[in-house]
Amino acid sequence: MATTNIITIDGPSGSGKGTVCHILAKKLQWNLLDSGALYRVLAFAALQQKIDLKDHQTLVKLALDLQVSFQSNGVGVDTLLSGNNIGDQLRTEIVADAASQIASIEVVRDALLARQKAFYQKPGLIADGRDMGTVVFPDATVKVFLDASAEERAQRRFNQLQEKGFSVSIAQILSEIKERDFRDRNRTVAPLRPAEDAFVIDSTCLTIDEVVEQILNLVAHKLNL
Ligand code: DC
Repeated sequence: MATTNIITIDGPSGSGKGTVCHILAKKLQWNLLDSGALYRVLAFAALQQKIDLKDHQTLVKLALDLQVSFQSNGVGVDTLLSGNNIGDQLRTEIVADAASQIASIEVVRDALLARQKAFYQKPGLIADGRDMGTVVFPDATVKVFLDASAEERAQRRFNQLQEKGFSVSIAQILSEIKERDFRDRNRTVAPLRPAEDAFVIDSTCLTIDEVVEQILNLVAHKLNL
């Protein structure tokens, strides 16, 4: 597999990774891998089929057989599982929690590896996740670790939920974020951490456009664009 023209963007949820990756993929006209969505689809399928999340071998089989595709719909991306659009159902707490459990199982992560690598297509790939630069694409051209303070990430999530009309407590969101951070950063398999050669960008006080600009500068410098 060619490992040129791959930008990996890892970081905790709420760091702005998803939005930044979509903008970059659009600007550069490169393919996009939302690896978190793969974990969520797998979790959704496992819940749907009532698979015990402790049954690692059945989860591995499910991961290898998963009929999933991502299709741009002009505004965003549709996630198709066996031909059905399940995008709306992936953001629930139940799916997030199951995805987080599944993501800590080494054999399941291994089963998703080839599928993630297959997202590379010319002219390039933007890979969004937790271990893109450390495990999946260790030879990527540019590796970014996008971070932000837990308080800022809680505030962003709070604003998003309020916009959608949900009444939520910011203290509750902050405590969930801290709990998830601890789990992601301390798990034994593919823990969330910057690759040694990653550029760490703290987006706490930056706008999305400023983050995108910093990454494009890094890419231009690396690829002599
Ligand atoms: O980014 P997200 O919230 O959609 O990710 C869903 C879950 O998958 C979350 O628990 C983190 C995990 N994940 C992971 O372990 N490795 C990745 N490369 C991407 C996501």
